[in-house]
Amino acid sequence: MKLLIINGPNLNLIGRREVDVYGKENLDQIINWVSDNIKSSKVDLIWFQSNSEGKIIDKLHWAIEKKIEGVVINPGAYTHYSYAIRDAISSTEIPTIEVHLSNIDKRENFRRVSVIKEVCIEQIMGKGKEGYLEAINILFEN
Ligand code: DQA
Repeated sequence: MKLLIINGPNLNLIGRREVDVYGKENLDQIINWVSDNIKSSKVDLIWFQSNSEGKIIDKLHWAIEKKIEGVVINPGAYTHYSYAIRDAISSTEIPTIEVHLSNIDKRENFRRVSVIKEVCIEQIMGKGKEGYLEAINILFEN
């Protein structure tokens, strides 16, 4: 099963960005941990990170062409206002799970809004790197 994991803006800086919120591990360490902890060898993970809204949208369109069967997306701050990413997710018709390292419901007011929530089958937040693994397992079991 081919799954696409998208990380949006500033997530390339985790490990040294707001460590009290996002932890000390960098994105590569999280990717390695998730890959090592996948239950099934039948899952093929494609990781993608971009700071650009357009590149994230292009990757979602690419997922249609490549017949990706599930998407996990942490759109970073785009979560809170990118209707373009929301439309791209719904256009793919691929089951998509929204993941956040931190608990966006318990932070600043602007983070409590997710414009992608309604086009995702699930929203996972506040579980750090384990949220990615949980999302992958849900998509695999679906
Ligand atoms: C985040 C939460 C967003 O509000 C923030 O802009 C991020 C990371 C998270 O993983 O907790 O960049 O998506």
